[in-house]
Amino acid sequence: MKDLIKNIKKKKELSGVADDVIARLIEQRLASYHTQLDQLKPKQQKLLLKLIRADLRQLTGMFHPKSSKKSRPDLLATHASTEERLPHYLQLKEKIDSLKPKIILDLGCGLNPIALATPNTAYHAADINEADLNLVKAHFKKNHIKGSVFTFDLQHQPLSDLPQADLILLFKIIDLIDRKKGHKVTEPLLTQLNYQHLLISFPKIKLSGKPMRYPERRWLTLMCNRLGLSHERFTLGNELFYLVHRNYFE
Ligand SMILES: C[S@@+](CC[C@H](N)C(=O)[O-])C[C@H]1O[C@@H](n2cnc3c(N)ncnc32)[C@H](O)[C@@H]1O
Repeated sequence: MKDLIKNIKKKKELSGVADDVIARLIEQRLASYHTQLDQLKPKQQKLLLKLIRADLRQLTGMFHPKSSKKSRPDLLATHASTEERLPHYLQLKEKIDSLKPKIILDLGCGLNPIALATPNTAYHAADINEADLNLVKAHFKKNHIKGSVFTFDLQHQPLSDLPQADLILLFKIIDLIDRKKGHKVTEPLLTQLNYQHLLISFPKIKLSGKPMRYPERRWLTLMCNRLGLSHERFTLGNELFYLVHRNYFE
């Protein structure tokens, strides 16, 4: 297993992904084929390696932070999500400030905390990509930002392990972790996470840059209504935001 993980991480863009995340993906694939690693022929092992790399590329998105020595806007521009959001961060910050959060939890954070975190608000940042998390950690240290930076796999770790926060961010991650799962991953996020406000975002364009045919995610409106969660929607650039409210802070 260790050798396979090491081989998978030889691709530079995947080198930052946490080992246990890769191990879980390998185990899932093996279980779905009802087999074990030591039963695979070399050809099958090679195929498995390719499949896991493809899974990881889907999950981690198309971004390549190259150096922590870059200036802050340059660094944000290395990640597709934060780069696309650069012209809209001011408006996004105003929206967040209007909610007056004391603690923010950013799940599947990528480099987003580098744009949003301030010394006035505690900020917890979590992702499966340790390369991103290291850059966020360095930024927090340099800018005296309170909070924590940690590895967390939203698909496999218990949500009850997460710190509570009055604002939780889930930017451009739902489509990745809910893929082919019929939105079964999203519902527990809405019902089990401990928040006052949950700000979820979705891309409105495809990776190719073409507009999506149905960018509205009506399923989320229906889900919020069914769960009795009030929500509002707004768009910034090519990103659709759902702001969900719940008074559940203990
Ligand atoms: C498209 S990027 C969005 C990054 C950031 N939220 C933003 O919008 O700027 C998706 C992020 O989700 C992370 N991710 C993918 N699967 C995850 C999982 N199961 N648990 C936690 N994070 C995950 C990836 O590593 C990547 O940083």
